[in-house]
Amino acid sequence: MTSERRRIAPLPDTLISQIAAGEVIERPASVLKELLENAIDARARAIEVRLGGGGIRRIAVRDDGTGIPRDELALALARHATSKIQSLGELESVATMGFRGEALASIASVATITLTSRTANAAQAWQVDGRGGPATAAAGANGTTVDVRQLFDEIPARRKFLRAETTEYGHCLGMLERVALAQPDIEFRLFHNDKPQKHWRAGSASQRMRDILGIEFLQQCVTAERTHDLISLRGILVRPTHARGRADRQYLYVNGRYVRDRTVSHAIRQAYADVLHGDRQPAYVLFLALDPRSVDVNVHPSKHEVRFRDSGAMHQFVAQALSAALASGTATPDHPAARPAASMADRASARNAATTEPGMAGNANPAADAPTTAGGAHIPSMPAADGRYPRAQWQQTFALRDGGRDQAAWQAAYRPLDGNDPGTGTASDPPGGATEDFPLGMALGQLHGIYILAQNRAGLVLVDMHAAHERVVYEQLKRALDARTLPRQELLVPVVFNVSEADAGLAEEYHQTLTELGLTVTPGGPASLIVRSVPALLASGDIEAMVRHVIRDLGAIGSSPRLTEQRNILLSSMACHGAVRANRRLTLDEMNALLRTMEQTDRADQCNHGRPTWVQWPLADLDKLFLRGQ
Ligand SMILES: Nc1ncnc2c1ncn2[C@@H]1O[C@H](COP(=O)(O)OP(=O)(O)OP(=O)(O)O)[C@@H](O)[C@H]1O
Ligand SMILES: [Mg+2]
Repeated sequence: MTSERRRIAPLPDTLISQIAAGEVIERPASVLKELLENAIDARARAIEVRLGGGGIRRIAVRDDGTGIPRDELALALARHATSKIQSLGELESVATMGFRGEALASIASVATITLTSRTANAAQAWQVDGRGGPATAAAGANGTTVDVRQLFDEIPARRKFLRAETTEYGHCLGMLERVALAQPDIEFRLFHNDKPQKHWRAGSASQRMRDILGIEFLQQCVTAERTHDLISLRGILVRPTHARGRADRQYLYVNGRYVRDRTVSHAIRQAYADVLHGDRQPAYVLFLALDPRSVDVNVHPSKHEVRFRDSGAMHQFVAQALSAALASGTATPDHPAARPAASMADRASARNAATTEPGMAGNANPAADAPTTAGGAHIPSMPAADGRYPRAQWQQTFALRDGGRDQAAWQAAYRPLDGNDPGTGTASDPPGGATEDFPLGMALGQLHGIYILAQNRAGLVLVDMHAAHERVVYEQLKRALDARTLPRQELLVPVVFNVSEADAGLAEEYHQTLTELGLTVTPGGPASLIVRSVPALLASGDIEAMVRHVIRDLGAIGSSPRLTEQRNILLSSMACHGAVRANRRLTLDEMNALLRTMEQTDRADQCNHGRPTWVQWPLADLDKLFLRGQ
């Protein structure tokens, strides 16, 4: 390099394109994405993809869309030439996948490209290639074929970043799946090295999800659906108990475009915060549809990101919609009987009505129809229409015999928080022979002090006593704190224990927070604490362990009980220690009380760590064990 200053000079056109391509075209999958998006914008009904050598040797995409007239073919390959927008105003409300007029030019600058197209009223197809020159007559049906070969052949620096053919093929397949999930109305075929690989017919959104993600995954999901003003959200998300170790299967679409978005990811995490074990990852397919003017798509070179005009509102909308889906989804597990075919049709028409953006092949806002089969072989559907067991009925059944201190505490723990008294009577014989009508049935006994066995109409129910109680207590604590009606219980005998001076200091520093959580904790000396009252719900738990944990949590996360996430961490610790431990003998009445309360509790089918709290063993499965009727 000479030290002399170089003159400023305009860059040659090809180099400009190659630089631009650097941002857009990273690997074969990015070429495929651009070609697929063009076919979608052209309102294709069927798209065929042919890959050679993992897409490095060849990527050809054929569609049956509108086609490009002969005299515009050369322009299609030129930079900054597009049919999709013409003004800033149009850019701000863009409803097509493309808008920069740059993709084909970028591809042409780093690979060999041939473009063949025929419009509906042309007598034949016409073809141009990346070297320029006039269009030549060609054979071909209506629609467009873009054939891209030898990607990065002339640019060794980029070529060497490509991976093995199988890896690049994997990226291409992933890209096709992403695009196809949001376009169920379009038929897709994929060939690799001339062998057929995939064929997804046009159909419903749920059919497409089944084709791509598999029926098993769909059975592990609940559906989400919410519309507010001009925003609508539809999709499926995995039940926490089926959450995955890897962060794959996270599909978010905004107006049909696959994106990654921090605001929405955070809202999703928040919805799962209560129910997901630390290292588990949520999985979801979510379609957000909103007025194109309220989202900016022009913020990232490969259009992977968007910016919401009002990201706060979006966050709140998504978090609420998904929390509701997770909460109610657990109360009404998907079941064929619970989801008649008619409701699918209703949903489809609702979807069409809610579609706001034009020009997206009519499918910019695909609904995620419900998974149609039972949510896992051992999870039955709950009978009540709204997924809850009628409160009046459980009150009749709910009863506690006169008993010792434990039972009184138990009763306090299960007093409904809205002030209704659980009532009295004997629980042993429920009214009207309703034994089997409760979703979770009636308790038969306890197994090894860990599980409750109960009988319901479907067969045998097994409940993890501690996990279930923990969830119930946690939800009750949350509700009580939200309503500022957390009943406290003075301890007849205060609990005194030794702590480190640091912990004693924390207890003092966070005295106010502890009080708000229903815990009266005072110093008993420089290194000991006295607990004088606790939330009544927790009076029968391990108070010392609970207070130690809450103080430790406070030290770690600080206090701000108004911040729901932090508060919930504290409540979760409290519930864990306040809940009945394994190895405690319960009476049948106590067991039934727990079952009834579970039926009333949101998210009751998993504990705070996302483990299941109960499973159903259908009679048919038990029969199989004994080879009955075979
Ligand atoms: N498969 C196709 N069918 C019909 N027209 C097409 C097809 N592919 C490209 N075109 C036309 O060629 C033009 C240029 O395509 P290109 O992908 O380069 O830009 P774009 O889609 O407009 O914007 P972007 O760079 O954001 O993708 C498009 O505007 C469209 O008119
Ligand atoms: Mg394009």
